Amino acid sequence: MTEKREFRAIKGTRDIRPPDSALWNWFEQRARDVFEAYNFREIRLPIFEETDLFARSIGADTDVVGKEMYTFEDRDESSVSLRPEATAGVARAYIEHGMHTLPGNVKLYYIGPMFRRERPQKGRYRQFYQIGAEVLGQSDAPAIDAEVLEMLMVLFQRAGLALTTLYINSIGCRDCRPKYVDVLRRELRNIQDQLGADSQRRIETNPLRVLDSKLPEEQSIIETLPRIADHLCAACRQHFSELKDELNLRGMAYRENWRLVRGLDYYTRTTFEVTAEGLGSQNAVCGGGRYDGLVELLGGHPTKGIGFAIGSDRAILSIQDGGQAPKLPGLGVFVAWMSTATYPAAVRIAGKLRDGGVSLELPPEEMKFKKSLGLADKLGARYALIIGEDEVASGTFTLKRLADGEQKKFKENELLEYLESERRV
Ligand code: HAM
Repeated sequence: MTEKREFRAIKGTRDIRPPDSALWNWFEQRARDVFEAYNFREIRLPIFEETDLFARSIGADTDVVGKEMYTFEDRDESSVSLRPEATAGVARAYIEHGMHTLPGNVKLYYIGPMFRRERPQKGRYRQFYQIGAEVLGQSDAPAIDAEVLEMLMVLFQRAGLALTTLYINSIGCRDCRPKYVDVLRRELRNIQDQLGADSQRRIETNPLRVLDSKLPEEQSIIETLPRIADHLCAACRQHFSELKDELNLRGMAYRENWRLVRGLDYYTRTTFEVTAEGLGSQNAVCGGGRYDGLVELLGGHPTKGIGFAIGSDRAILSIQDGGQAPKLPGLGVFVAWMSTATYPAAVRIAGKLRDGGVSLELPPEEMKFKKSLGLADKLGARYALIIGEDEVASGTFTLKRLADGEQKKFKENELLEYLESERRV
């Protein structure tokens, strides 16, 4: 006999169950509605791609590619990885399907799971979910950046995400950033004794990431480092200044954060993050920025790009913690049918009400009346529809509102109309 054992979800993964799943669907639907209002359309991408796609796009020296990817050899001996993010996949699809020939900017959004082998904690999982949006095309007009940010903040506001803050920065382009990185590296070498091991290593591999450090003892030193704003080329400076004008035009609140460099290598110019309260250390609910060289780096035509990804797990936590979760409709009607003679009528009425969009539970086995009402209550049904032999004979049914016990009688053909009118209030 096989040994009895209990299976559990793998560390860092979890099951999103009812009733939480309803809130997830609600949030995703809000995103679809808002994004489609801005003329973004959905793209569904593969969950795994060639490992090299991520290494080239995100950067081989980044934590995401270097330490966190789930990579395996496929049977034909090619290396594939579960996607740690979706911007690389969008850029790959843009090139593969010749989307540069489409009219106007290509505006895409995606919803789905991503995978990173990080240390799990509140708001940080190994399988987590993102809702992202990307704009690809020939223009890098700051109005595009601003519209993307406006769309993001409109979604957060509509979804009741409490106390969010938008941080923006510009990290320059391939002309001015390398010069700044040199200046920064030189300065960091001068003060390296005052830095921890991680930051010391990054001086050589990726000095910008030192600015990301959260170590309390490094903060006062980092504050004295040269700032990128003082090293941007004229074109990048102008782009950033116009972006701020565009945000002001839209009445959007934002804060500048010169240390916002982001952890992925493809970014140029605009970078941004949104934080929300109540999430502890993992308080970034969204990150994004411009990636003007990415498509070209992957073998496509020179193309501009900008986008973001919202961490749904964190967004949902924040909506729940902020007490802003909407009251979503649950079970509408529980059919309390009472003897086998009433069962055919119960099945018929259940079918009609369900056709009319009512969420309805029809017990599959005969139940005593009291037990039936008890279960209706426990399931959180709004109404119990009572179908006894007298009701079937008279063609009039009793609808009992479970919250206060109020009962009303209806003919079969009046039931749906009444329930619909109730749903509207
Ligand atoms: P990212 O900053 O790596 O950017 O991730 C975006 C968001 O995903 C984060 O702000 C966070 O909310 C969420 N997230 C990341 N890792 C985890 C995790 N382990 N557990 C839970 N949530 C997590 C990107 O992925 C870029 N592709 C965004 C982008 C799109 N840039 C341009 N276009």
